[in-house]
Amino acid sequence: MPYQNLLVEISHRVATVTVNRPDKLNALNAATKAELKQAFESFKNDPAVGVVILTGAREKSFVAGTDIKELTELEVKSGEAFAAGGQAVFGVIEHLGKPVIAAVNGYALGGGCELALACTLRVASENAKFGQPEVNLGIIPGYGGTQRLARLVGLGRAMELILTGDQIDAQEALRIGLVNKVVPLTDLRATCESIAQKILSKGQQAVKFALQAVNATANMSLADGLKYEAELFGQCCGTEDFKEGTTAFLQKRKPNFTNK
Ligand code: COA
Repeated sequence: MPYQNLLVEISHRVATVTVNRPDKLNALNAATKAELKQAFESFKNDPAVGVVILTGAREKSFVAGTDIKELTELEVKSGEAFAAGGQAVFGVIEHLGKPVIAAVNGYALGGGCELALACTLRVASENAKFGQPEVNLGIIPGYGGTQRLARLVGLGRAMELILTGDQIDAQEALRIGLVNKVVPLTDLRATCESIAQKILSKGQQAVKFALQAVNATANMSLADGLKYEAELFGQCCGTEDFKEGTTAFLQKRKPNFTNK
């Protein structure tokens, strides 16, 4: 499928999506958001895709935010619709049912930070910079930043980033738990691919149920979440992967998962 603003390649069950508007630091215009939605929807039921890596073209920027040019005409109603539209795109990424690894290769500002937050894991290069600079434009994060950032790093740190608009570097992002790992830029893709292959070597039914269970923490009380966890644990026990995983352990061999 040819895209105007994305590069998509699929190899060894890993789809790599590169936001490709380097002259605008990969800012998300309407066309790019539509293509992201289309690409991720196409991965949902594609057996050739088990994990997705999301990154930005060139060495300077992951995504420098939503395209500010497209904000200027917004008023109350259209502004609400604009935010809801972006949230819907990021929702497709968050609820893909397969792990999505953000390979943050530079600026992840505004909608770029929010895009990384919608991913399952985040690996940053040493030159990456994170921030929610929307207050500088007289707005607030609208693609999930006020919600997902607070859940990931805690209310106090989210408030500081969102109220000051300050940028933080990759080491600070690691310190506050915004990213899982920081690596040299030259190692970024290989690190993400190695995480992807490690996940793909596990039983994919368990991976799917684990994503569902952990993602449910956003919407459930502890009691409901525990009930849901037990239900999904039970479903795992009905899979071929479960039989193979436990049998292989007892036979002291590597499991040969069929992902069923
Ligand atoms: N929307 C639209 N265009 C953007 C953009 C965005 N979010 N971020 C960068 N660009 C464009 C610039 O306008 C410039 O385009 P031009 O060459 O046609 O003038 C090009 O990308 C390069 O950016 P530039 O600002 O010249 O690079 P820089 O190295 O001086 O600064 C940043 C880099 C990231 C600090 C700066 O571009 C920036 O602050 N961007 C906006 C970040 C932001 O507020 N995002 C949240 C939006 S809600």
